[in-house]
Amino acid sequence: MRISPGTRFIGTITVPGDKSISHRALLFGALAEGETTICGFLDSEDTRATAACLRAMGVMIDTGETVRVQGVGLHGLHAPASVLDTGNSGTTTRLLMGILAGQSFSATLAGDASLNTRPMDRVAIPLRRMGAEVVGQGARCTPPVTVHGGALQGIAYDSPVASAQVKSAVLLAGLYAEGVTSVTEPEKSRDHTERMLRGFGVDVQENGVTVSLQGGQSLISQAITVPGDISSAAFFLVAGAIVPGAKVTVCNVGVNPTRSGILDVLEAMGADLLLHHERITGGEPVADITVRARPLRGTTIGGALIPRLIDELPVLAVAAALAEGDTVIRDARELRVKESDRIAVMSRVLRDMGVEVEERDDGMTVRGGMSLHNADVDSVGDHRIAMSAAMAALAGGVEVRIHGAAAIATSFPSFPLLLQQLGANVE
Ligand code: S3P
Repeated sequence: MRISPGTRFIGTITVPGDKSISHRALLFGALAEGETTICGFLDSEDTRATAACLRAMGVMIDTGETVRVQGVGLHGLHAPASVLDTGNSGTTTRLLMGILAGQSFSATLAGDASLNTRPMDRVAIPLRRMGAEVVGQGARCTPPVTVHGGALQGIAYDSPVASAQVKSAVLLAGLYAEGVTSVTEPEKSRDHTERMLRGFGVDVQENGVTVSLQGGQSLISQAITVPGDISSAAFFLVAGAIVPGAKVTVCNVGVNPTRSGILDVLEAMGADLLLHHERITGGEPVADITVRARPLRGTTIGGALIPRLIDELPVLAVAAALAEGDTVIRDARELRVKESDRIAVMSRVLRDMGVEVEERDDGMTVRGGMSLHNADVDSVGDHRIAMSAAMAALAGGVEVRIHGAAAIATSFPSFPLLLQQLGANVE
């Protein structure tokens, strides 16, 4: 993909549905009794992987304008005939591991080259403690990973990482377990699972950073409306905050507080952000967000803020590069085990464009205020790196050729179209 600024960056857009919520709607809908309908579903490679895995286990899913999932109940899945292909999707892999732990059959999950290097031990460890047998590759239990389901026992799990994928996998297994299952996190991660399970009629208890549920509860089908993905809106919010003369409104953005850290950071950097028409849609807070460009200043991003913006750190590094002064990102070691090592890859992309970046084990320091130059950059097939590089081109006023940009379809197939709609040059 070749991208450069046009003469303007102005307009009103709507981003596609939230990826995390779309995955959960399919998975929980499959385990429910009756038909679940999903409006605003994100149709992308990742969510298609979830649908394909569920279909391979006997779930009927109709993907029209409104997605319809014919729930088979907690115990209605069938053994798949072959390996379940989870593509590039960590959420598909880890949440399915939790579900598979409670089945009376075995199944193997494997994905693409990136997914097959990602650690699944963080899920395998608690699932084994609950009574499942989980066999992956090497010390970190990378895929292909086989889950032999069985009779499970509830546990009180103290997770070493703030991860919604771990929390969700353990809670899903907990639905099949005897007694109570609880997960305690070092910091609160996104809470879509808790919110949506309640919508399906499950009693989910929350006490600070601990979430628990009683096993054996069945799910009752529901109509779900998925808000726009703040992680997709993030690219336009950052470019809108920086590109000279920009004014962008993104409609229908999910602003769940466990996801909205990017808004706090942009405000701390001095961005002109306005949230309007704030409302609750399908149990999730939603707003329209208008951003106007003005000079930004560097900031520090760390601590409990990190899980609230983990997927937005690559594009926030772009904001940092165009701000006045240094920005320090710390406590973000998790970035190293995402779709790519996002600390290393994003540092390299920014350096290739002329930005000074100091990489550290748990983050980076980005020197702001340098001028960017035209560049050829490699996203290494990571969708969020590719989209962040595109925004760096617009914000820095340069032309960038992005290799591996096809990966954008993982989460945001309409991204190039929306960019063109706002006035950018995209080939
Ligand atoms: C997700 C949780 C986060 C996030 C990922 C989606 C989810 O991962 O980075 O893109 O849908 O639960 P972790 O659970 O590993 O933090």
